[in-house]
Amino acid sequence: MAKTTKAKRAAKRGAAAAKPPAKRSAAKLAPRARLPKVAPGELVTLLDFLRYAVSRFAEAGVVFAHGTTDPIAEAAFLIGEALHLHPDQFEMFASARVTAPEGAKILDLIERRVATRLPAAYLINKIYMRGVPFYVDERVIVPRSFIGELLDSHFDGGETSLIGDPAEVERVLDLCTGSGCLAILAARAFPFAAIDAVDLSKDALAVAARNVADHQLGDRITLHNGDLFAPLGDARYDLIITNPPYVDAEGMANLPAECRAEPAMAFDGGDDGLDIVRRILAEAKDHLTETGGLLCEIGRGRGLIDAEFPDLPLLWLDSEDSEGEVFWIAAADL
Ligand SMILES: C[S@@+](CC[C@H](N)C(=O)[O-])C[C@H]1O[C@@H](n2cnc3c(N)ncnc32)[C@H](O)[C@@H]1O
Repeated sequence: MAKTTKAKRAAKRGAAAAKPPAKRSAAKLAPRARLPKVAPGELVTLLDFLRYAVSRFAEAGVVFAHGTTDPIAEAAFLIGEALHLHPDQFEMFASARVTAPEGAKILDLIERRVATRLPAAYLINKIYMRGVPFYVDERVIVPRSFIGELLDSHFDGGETSLIGDPAEVERVLDLCTGSGCLAILAARAFPFAAIDAVDLSKDALAVAARNVADHQLGDRITLHNGDLFAPLGDARYDLIITNPPYVDAEGMANLPAECRAEPAMAFDGGDDGLDIVRRILAEAKDHLTETGGLLCEIGRGRGLIDAEFPDLPLLWLDSEDSEGEVFWIAAADL
């Protein structure tokens, strides 16, 4: 069952998403966007529905850019959610039959995904990141940062860890928090840390507030509205994590439909994509403790950054699905 294992892994990392400029309901879909009718009994098991969804997604050319990276993972995520199953449970139930109402619900989701091009996460208002569920809607980008994985792999106090004991991390800053996903994962990774999380978008912070409440972290995570470090005064942190907007002008002009459904300000990093990254690099030192460090995702801009800051000893980190899209730098080296 390699495929469903892959689906499970990818769905665990996150999931699909997209939001249109204005909401479109299934009732308003153009007839040509409708999927062919499935006769009763043609699709029986979860795996049958998975196969059907994958075929429809491939036929429609939908894009997978929101945590799930392929049609199998996307389909497993949607089907699992329709049936109230955690992504981890898909494989266990792959050969189980679905009831007629469940089947209708799954087919409706598949049709809406194809017709609206909305990311799956917006259709069901949920995404998993590192197996942790987050509420999302069209006010925030769908979480898919590589930093979630890196917190587990490089900040656990183990052999390859970039920090000592995670229990000794006292203050963390999540810049550009969006849905609050990284702040919440950081709260789990650093059990005694107080966390500040900043976003310029009030809409995004409303979603973050909901997630912080859902995860009962209101006593540890403080949300701030403002421009990067501006709302923080002279506070200093042991760790700054950030997944800022970093799409360049060409990328913005060519965003797939699924990404155009997300807030543009979550992507737009200026002409070469690095406007905000440069500001973070310039200002981070003033907000780090002496032994602190900055973990920053920048997408594919490594060449530009290396060329512009040849003297900065940036440590480029890889994750399961990325190479050199996130750097770490100690405060002492900034
Ligand atoms: C790529 S999203 C990351 C969201 C979240 N951290 C994640 O990984 O899913 C970037 C976020 O930065 C916010 N943002 C854009 N410009 C900003 C600024 N100047 N100061 C603070 N936040 C900003 C956007 O509203 C968006 O929520």
